[in-house]
Amino acid sequence: MANHAGNYTPGTGIERWLDDRLPIIRFSKEHLMDYPTPKNLNYWWTFGAILTFMLVIQIVTGVILVMHYTPHVDLAFASVEHIRRDVNFGRIIQGTHAVGASMFFAAVYVHIFRGLYYGSYKAPREVIWMLGVILFILLMATAFMGYVLPWGQMSLWGATVITGIFSAIPLVGEAIQTLLLGGFSVANPTLNRFFSLHYLIPFIIAAVVVLHIWALHVPGNNNPTGVEVKESRDTLPFHPYITMKDLFAVVVFLIPFAWFVFFAPDILGHADNYIPGNPQVTPTHIVPEWYLLPFYTMLRAIDFNVLFIDSKLGGVIAMGGSLLILFALPWLDTSKVRSGSFRPLFRPFYWLFVINFIALAYLGAQSAEGIYVLLAKICTAYYFGYFLIILPILGRIEKPAPLPASISESVLGKANG
Ligand code: HEM
Repeated sequence: MANHAGNYTPGTGIERWLDDRLPIIRFSKEHLMDYPTPKNLNYWWTFGAILTFMLVIQIVTGVILVMHYTPHVDLAFASVEHIRRDVNFGRIIQGTHAVGASMFFAAVYVHIFRGLYYGSYKAPREVIWMLGVILFILLMATAFMGYVLPWGQMSLWGATVITGIFSAIPLVGEAIQTLLLGGFSVANPTLNRFFSLHYLIPFIIAAVVVLHIWALHVPGNNNPTGVEVKESRDTLPFHPYITMKDLFAVVVFLIPFAWFVFFAPDILGHADNYIPGNPQVTPTHIVPEWYLLPFYTMLRAIDFNVLFIDSKLGGVIAMGGSLLILFALPWLDTSKVRSGSFRPLFRPFYWLFVINFIALAYLGAQSAEGIYVLLAKICTAYYFGYFLIILPILGRIEKPAPLPASISESVLGKANG
């Protein structure tokens, strides 16, 4: 841990006794209270705490929902209605969990794009980043399986489309698909599997979050300048400075969250999911939830065969590749300078990447016809081009702006720095 000074002295006999056996107070003091944090962190750095808060909210509301939910195709839809109508505070608890999934993803996208802008994935923070990518994939799997549980039309048909993706994998694909489904179509065994995994994975996520933060506490935080901590006056203790700032950010984040829960709890869902799942009737448009749309677009963008790879497998490779490429990012970006604030050439490409990602989400919600088909291909190409061509080249040709000598100098100006 950067700048880390273990200055805990047990105050009482009991604390001394515990400290020799399980130094949990020492650990908390060092990592939650005294942990040195760069003093120039901006509000984009509060999203890690917001995400941790959201994980707790989802687990707590989820555990309560399970007390009233029934994972059976004949009863699931009605049991969710029962929660919403009959269970005490059921409407709020179910609404919080459902809206919470969207808020979680909104926060995770801010967190990821913060990392992309400030180069938080670069050495020595590659492992933090890679654990983050694992968290992102686990979150997507959890959200997808959770969406199946109410057993509405979109639950059933979304599950049919997404599990169908696996069948495109050569040799083992169909076996994987059958294993996921627990049979040959989306039915009761599928619902049971998804329910079991939807309950399990959040605890795996919690464990990976611990590793994520552990990996963070070894090199310490990056910061908006991307310049490493050099001296003790570059940092502030985590408590009370960051704890209070994070708490404030959580409260602000709760305002839109509460607005959705209390005033528009269903606005983020699809109307078809309020119709009980029916294997005989296919909805006109099968669309995933908004936060999966960019990846859904990349899946659909490949509608042509390339040599021996047919379009279906091509789509799976594009979608899988769009996530896997994130693991390689620390090595694809060749720039020595971390923060986008000092990279004039990088910035326009970065903002285009942000717009492109929003466009990918928009396109995922449109039916694949006319101009949308072409646009999906262009946006998919830019997504991959950004990582595979633009970032590797930019680092070599760009002339970065001069960096401040230290974090203190960037905060106080040269004269005092
Ligand atoms: C359940 C989801 C997640 C939780 C609870 C979480 C939590 C945190 C926390 C508490 C921090 C420290 C505070 C901060 O920098 O905001 C952090 C930092 C970081 N996270 Fe996450 N994170 C999650 C997902 C992700 C994802 C999906 C990525 C990227 C793909 C990611 C990449 C990073 C990076 C690179 C840092 C270091 C930031 C820096 O110092 O610049 N995290 N995370």
